[in-house]
Amino acid sequence: MKILNTVLVGLGRIGWKYHLPEILKHKGFKLSSIVEPLKERRDEAFKLYGVKCFKDCVSLFSSGERPDLMVIASPTPFHMRQSLEAFKNGCDVFCDKPMALSYAEAAKIFQGMKKYKKKFMLYQPHRGTEEFLSLKHVLSLDLIGQIYMIKRISSGYNIRNDWQSLKKYGGGMLNNYGAHYMDQLLRLRPSNVTKVFCILRNVISAGDAEDLVKVLMETEEGLMLELEVNMASAHIMPPWQINGEYGSIILDREKKSWHVRYANKKDLCGIKLQKGVAALNREYSNGKDIKWNEKEFEISGFDKIDFYSKVYEHFALNMKPFVPIEETMELMRVFDLCRKSASKGKCISHVEIIKKTTQGVSK
Ligand SMILES: NC(=O)c1ccc[n+]([C@@H]2O[C@H](COP(=O)([O-])OP(=O)(O)OC[C@H]3O[C@@H](n4cnc5c(N)ncnc54)[C@H](O)[C@@H]3O)[C@@H](O)[C@H]2O)c1
Repeated sequence: MKILNTVLVGLGRIGWKYHLPEILKHKGFKLSSIVEPLKERRDEAFKLYGVKCFKDCVSLFSSGERPDLMVIASPTPFHMRQSLEAFKNGCDVFCDKPMALSYAEAAKIFQGMKKYKKKFMLYQPHRGTEEFLSLKHVLSLDLIGQIYMIKRISSGYNIRNDWQSLKKYGGGMLNNYGAHYMDQLLRLRPSNVTKVFCILRNVISAGDAEDLVKVLMETEEGLMLELEVNMASAHIMPPWQINGEYGSIILDREKKSWHVRYANKKDLCGIKLQKGVAALNREYSNGKDIKWNEKEFEISGFDKIDFYSKVYEHFALNMKPFVPIEETMELMRVFDLCRKSASKGKCISHVEIIKKTTQGVSK
């Protein structure tokens, strides 16, 4: 079995509590070193795991260490520089979300990856949850007809006061939870996002970054996508709503199931448009009693994806990435459009942006 010598960068919440145990658990990985600026965290890791610890990536590589894989779990402002350092030193990168602070930074990572012929994959755990996998299954049954709108809400009440509440560190809920849920929205019915309207607001956070994100988008195929990340909501709002021409789907959080209500297309046919300006029989209804079908689909039964198996398959066995970098670049592009829309206070049409760019190029 090929063993991937792995350096873990950042021993914080996600580094210490998720990546470290996963690396130790999987047989295909050997934790060869750690990078962490805080001495007490390096000492703790050394004491527990006897692993070589470095205060930064420069000291790691100048010591002669050449790991196969760098797992980046440092704060977001360091992702680009550390990825590029890894590529230059012959190392692939598995990076926690978000990829970087901006599309421009993400593009540098993409170019570096190509230049040094290395691999990069992002950790997007919400692609592999039971909830998301079961939703994809329900959608594949095609019960509600053409889908015209998908809403995703992540809500709760949390007065953030860590670095993720500060703009200067790339904080804010767009980069934070938005990186998970925007990715889900973009993956359900992949189609180019052409219009974006976004509001970013700081409601209760201790820092200056947004804790309320509202995004409304339209894709090339006319699908409306709506994202809300709201950290100032005392109630947990319904997390999913999917509307199709003949029905809708919601997540029943209590029952842990998807509730689908849909009509049979043939039952909806035959409704004739009235020509006059006096509604027939003074009726509001079109005279059709809709017979709704109701179905429940449990979330359980869909095994959560073991992400580190996917990491191993891609980095050690050269299998296709579970999260292709092109999809991550698309997410970063949409994030840039969101920020642009929020700062200008208007809808941004990507079609206009493309036109302007091409005009600029042809001049
Ligand atoms: N995928 C997920 O579900 C998930 C969850 C939490 C965090 N994250 C992401 O992981 C990253 C880290 O977040 P966190 O919540 O663990 O942060 P954290 O504040 O808990 O930990 C950050 C750690 O990185 C260390 N650090 C600081 N500067 C560093 C540097 N230059 N090089 C190496 N290490 C450095 C800190 O000392 C600390 O130990 C962020 O990009 C965040 O968005 C992802």
